[in-house]
Amino acid sequence: MFRIEYFDTLDSTNTYLQSRKSEDEGLVIVAKSQNKGRGQNNNQWISDTGGLYFSFLLKPKILSPTLSIMTGLVIIKTLEKFSIKNLKLKWPNDILYNEAKISGILIESKVKGAVPDYIIIGCGININQLTFSGVNEYIPTSMKIINNKSYDLNQVLNSFLEIFERYYQNYLSQKTECFIKEIQDLIYKKDQSVKIHLSDFILEGKIKALNSDGALIVETKEGEKCIYSGRILKNPST
Ligand code: BTN
Repeated sequence: MFRIEYFDTLDSTNTYLQSRKSEDEGLVIVAKSQNKGRGQNNNQWISDTGGLYFSFLLKPKILSPTLSIMTGLVIIKTLEKFSIKNLKLKWPNDILYNEAKISGILIESKVKGAVPDYIIIGCGININQLTFSGVNEYIPTSMKIINNKSYDLNQVLNSFLEIFERYYQNYLSQKTECFIKEIQDLIYKKDQSVKIHLSDFILEGKIKALNSDGALIVETKEGEKCIYSGRILKNPST
């Protein structure tokens, strides 16, 4: 289902793909580097050469928060194929190795009524970088730092797309329980106390699991709460 176009440098593969959003589902834009790579919460995504930066266009009839969880799972599965183990999904869309960040996901969409007009999924995976410019909330790491060898970016991309296509069929037929089940043990800080930044306050509690919608189930003093959007704070004591 995927058609890949390669670029040397773009401002951001997500931004560029916005200008091609009327095309058919499956267009993939890859750049060797980005000079305005974007992350969540208006953060910058440092995009020096050596990393894999790509965005792809989807046009499903449904948009569910499980899409970002599923994409995170696909990244974990892809990296496992290249012997990168012990990865965790920091809900909703960061991939961590120990406490270091190896990958991030930025999903942007336009929804008309309940049906998405288009969805752009942007992924950044740190592959062959040994150093990183700029300051990040989480220390960055890369596949090369972890396993002390270089990887072919295209092989990683092709594996990702192959695995994504398989999981996407489950997403389209709303069989999300299979991948939600698979991710339960990969949740960062599961059974640990955290602080979660919600739009208007900070929630404290223990992460228990994901529900079938991909929301985070948190045990708080007032009972269990399902969190659909928020950010787990790095240091719960602050
Ligand atoms: C995050 O962790 O904050 C999300 C990072 C997403 C980065 C990717 S790199 C490819 C695509 N283009 C962008 O500008 N951002 C995403």
